[in-house]
Amino acid sequence: MVAYIEDIARHEGQAVTLRGWLHNRRSSGKIHFLTVRDGSGFIQCVMSRQAVGDEAFARADHLAQETAVVVTGAVRADKRAPGGYEIDVTALEVVSEAQNYPITPKEHGVDYLMDRRHLWIRSQRQQAVLRVRHEVINAVRDFFNSRGFILADAPIFTPSACEGTTTLFPVQYFEQETAFLTQSGQLYNEANAMALGRVYCFGPTFRAEKSKTRRHLTEFWMVEPEMAYANLDDVMDLAEGLVVSVVERVLERRATELKALERDTSKLERVKSPFPRVSYDAAAEIIRKKGLAFEWGGDFGAPDETALSEEFDRPVAVHRYPSAVKAFYMKPDPERPDVALCVDVLAPEGYGEIIGGGVRIDDYDLLLKRINEHKLPQEAFEWYLDLRRFGSVPHGGFGMGIERVVSWICGLEHLREAIPYPRMLYRIYP
Ligand code: 4AD
Ligand code: MG
Repeated sequence: MVAYIEDIARHEGQAVTLRGWLHNRRSSGKIHFLTVRDGSGFIQCVMSRQAVGDEAFARADHLAQETAVVVTGAVRADKRAPGGYEIDVTALEVVSEAQNYPITPKEHGVDYLMDRRHLWIRSQRQQAVLRVRHEVINAVRDFFNSRGFILADAPIFTPSACEGTTTLFPVQYFEQETAFLTQSGQLYNEANAMALGRVYCFGPTFRAEKSKTRRHLTEFWMVEPEMAYANLDDVMDLAEGLVVSVVERVLERRATELKALERDTSKLERVKSPFPRVSYDAAAEIIRKKGLAFEWGGDFGAPDETALSEEFDRPVAVHRYPSAVKAFYMKPDPERPDVALCVDVLAPEGYGEIIGGGVRIDDYDLLLKRINEHKLPQEAFEWYLDLRRFGSVPHGGFGMGIERVVSWICGLEHLREAIPYPRMLYRIYP
């Protein structure tokens, strides 16, 4: 019977066939120990000469790493085995050989591995990260789908900027026009929210960030909810609920992966409601008290965010940044117009901003003024202004970067491992 390694416990005592690849091999001379992986897990297969015969036994002693193999044998429980089970091999079929696989168990440099990313993802650690990513994405979808949000996607080719004009990727759109890869689906999301009430979009977004930090990709996935008739508290409640739910779900369903990643899960277990909510002013004060030179009015840099998050054992929501450092669509606080009704959620342990959002300008005249102040082409925003012409209501939402969240939950040093094929300033291969 064909089985997957992740289901192996169900087959204890039975003969199964595993279809996979040889990950590792050692031998005592009398017995070969073959670690086989099949995409769903890793398992040790024990092969004796007696069980398979001289020829097969001798051949197995020369199989190279990543050779495709089909292994048949009996499932035996063994407390010492990493997954709790081993296979007593009765037959091994070589499907195709792999010679000189370039990624060996020894240490390789990051550039070497990144050039071979298409193979590197076969490693135990990278597989664990990608499984956590899968869980994060599904947790996000389930969260919104179970709360009445409608998935309505935003286009990737767009005629205009959403998050500032300095990080746009232009693309030739047939002969006449230049289009841009989307930086955020938010503007379309706002239109969708006026049609459907509560919506979200979820897709790849692009930023021509010339920065070489460990927190920036040029292509990343973002989930963006948007709600009609929402205020800043509604936005913060939603953001908090989402983060708690995603972390809980990964802890519950991906314990094996977190263990493979040697993640200190006690830190993730503290991610519970309520999150501290501090104003930008209060945050700036905390940062200054910790000895960093920080001037009111600027955006927080990575060291500032780290200093701030060290004060808390869970994510922190920072609200009401100066309008000047935020995007054109941010609604000013009516009680204090120099700050915006916006929020950033910063992850603990120095992982920085995972969520950015807020309340949008719903007044036609003010929005038009901001479009002009930001020197954005008004024609391209006529449809967006329409939302303020026809039944405008207070509304808001946010964007959460998937790779930032995966990177934090997995405890990664760099965002590049949080996506199968990272795109960065100096990396577009493979
Ligand atoms: O704070 P940002 O720029 O907000 C927006 O794009 C809003 N329009 C979203 C909205 O309100 N609908 O980006 C949102 C999140 C950040 O908090 C971060 O997690 C992620 O997107 N992000 C990046 N992730 C990886 N690489 C980059 N270059 C990123 N830029 C932003
Ligand atoms: Mg932001």
